[in-house]
Amino acid sequence: MSKILAFTNQKGGVGKTTSTANVGAGLARVGQRVLLVDLDPQANLTKGLGLLEAEQNVYGALLGEYRLKAYSLRENLALVAGSPALSGFEKVKGDELDREFLLKELLEPVRERCDYILLDCPPALGLVTLNAYACAQALYIPLEAQLYAADGLAKVLELVGRVQRRLNPELAVGGVFFTRHDKRKVLRRDTAEQLRAQHPGLVLDTVIRESIALGEAPHLGQDIFTYAPQSAGATDYQALVAEILTR
Ligand SMILES: Nc1ncnc2c1ncn2[C@@H]1O[C@H](COP(=O)(O)OP(=O)(O)OP(=O)(O)O)[C@@H](O)[C@H]1O
Ligand SMILES: [Mg+2]
Repeated sequence: MSKILAFTNQKGGVGKTTSTANVGAGLARVGQRVLLVDLDPQANLTKGLGLLEAEQNVYGALLGEYRLKAYSLRENLALVAGSPALSGFEKVKGDELDREFLLKELLEPVRERCDYILLDCPPALGLVTLNAYACAQALYIPLEAQLYAADGLAKVLELVGRVQRRLNPELAVGGVFFTRHDKRKVLRRDTAEQLRAQHPGLVLDTVIRESIALGEAPHLGQDIFTYAPQSAGATDYQALVAEILTR
């Protein structure tokens, strides 16, 4: 039975998609069967992994237009495509009973066939994100160690409490980790230390450094292990994968 992990932060541009792609690719490389699901209307995960023409996406499947379609990317790694139409999900399903459980239902039949399902959440706490939280076992929260980084974390943690009570008692925070880390920036170092002190046990040891290759890889539709296996980005995401596997 697969474990469902959601990469989430309502703050934009903190590394949710980069982390979903590269943790997924890293898990697949060590033999885990991984399904990625692109839940963002921006569909950056889909494009960034080189899937340019997906006829069937998660939105159509959520609406029941067709069955869930996973496109195979390589051995052990498959992707359910995102769609700009996801931005209309809340409007279409907003007053339906059980609207928070549509993704859970959709994923149920594939859970036997994979070890991990990774959800790339949009930078908002709307119905799509609630659907992700309603079916996930663990949330992973990337943070940029900068001023106000804690705000994004506080908003997610507040929502987690409510979701645990109402939708998904199984939900836990798997971990918070810092991305785009630059050790030359003192402010970032301070923020990281502060958060570690405030949330002991929640902040992962792995820190993802700022790395040019991580920004380049999606333009070629590749994960970091394929694009630049010797880069700092590959080293860091490999460490994150190892840490996630122990949690
Ligand atoms: N460690 C890193 N080093 C350098 N560039 C990075 C790193 N992590 C992410 N980026 C780049 O920063 C940008 C934002 O990253 P990403 O798309 O993963 O964030 P996101 O949280 O998914 O954003 P959104 O909220 O818009 O979905 C992208 O251009 C990505 O390539
Ligand atoms: Mg994203």
